[in-house]
Amino acid sequence: MPLPEKNIADIRKDYQQASLDEHMAGDNPLAFFKTWFHHALKSSVDEVNAMTLATVDAAGKPHARIVLLKGMDEHGFTFFTNYLSHKGHQIEENQHVALVFFWKELERQIRIEGIAEKVTEAESDEYFHSRPENSRLGAWASPQSQIISERTFLEKNHENYRKEFSGNIPRPPHWGGYRVKPNCIEFWQGRANRMHDRILFTLNEQGKWDKSRLAP
Ligand SMILES: Cc1cc2nc3c(=O)[nH]c(=O)nc-3n(C[C@H](O)[C@H](O)[C@H](O)COP(=O)(O)O)c2cc1C
Repeated sequence: MPLPEKNIADIRKDYQQASLDEHMAGDNPLAFFKTWFHHALKSSVDEVNAMTLATVDAAGKPHARIVLLKGMDEHGFTFFTNYLSHKGHQIEENQHVALVFFWKELERQIRIEGIAEKVTEAESDEYFHSRPENSRLGAWASPQSQIISERTFLEKNHENYRKEFSGNIPRPPHWGGYRVKPNCIEFWQGRANRMHDRILFTLNEQGKWDKSRLAP
């Protein structure tokens, strides 16, 4: 493989846009997440709700991929997926997961660690039925994470389910949401000279959030 024209080791950026201190972050990291999220929405951040989800399998091996945040409140962060996918099996084996948002336009990262639990059937139904028809059919047509012979397998499946359901598409029993209940949330703001700001919240035994500053 040819080397890129620019030496990878020479790629670097100095962060200048903003700062973060203990006072700004407040006492409730979920409220502060909302503040940063709304700011990202109003800014030019692309796919603001895309987040890396890391899971760990029964052998202790980590796995990571992007999923989309579809809701958040004081209980946690929700995404939807196929419960029979690799990530679904890994969460069955180990509920400890991590989420990472990187909003490069704002020079910000948010890291979340917590416990993933299935949302209620009613919540999964509600979100499933808000999706466009082709996405709903896709949930039936794709045995997520399984090896398939060729692309036409998916296309034929999609078409077959379209005929079978003729517009009235139920939620597949193996498709639904997880809510990540956070026990640790870190806000990172890039600063000049690699002297970044990091404010960490951890849930203590009394169920209250402790706040600290970490060295970058
Ligand atoms: C921008 C983006 C958004 C995605 N959103 C989701 C999602 O919300 N749910 C999902 O199951 N997969 C989503 N995917 C696909 C996953 O990254 C992954 O390929 C898939 O879930 C299978 O992962 P697994 O085999 O580890 O279970 C998304 C991928 C990208 C690049």
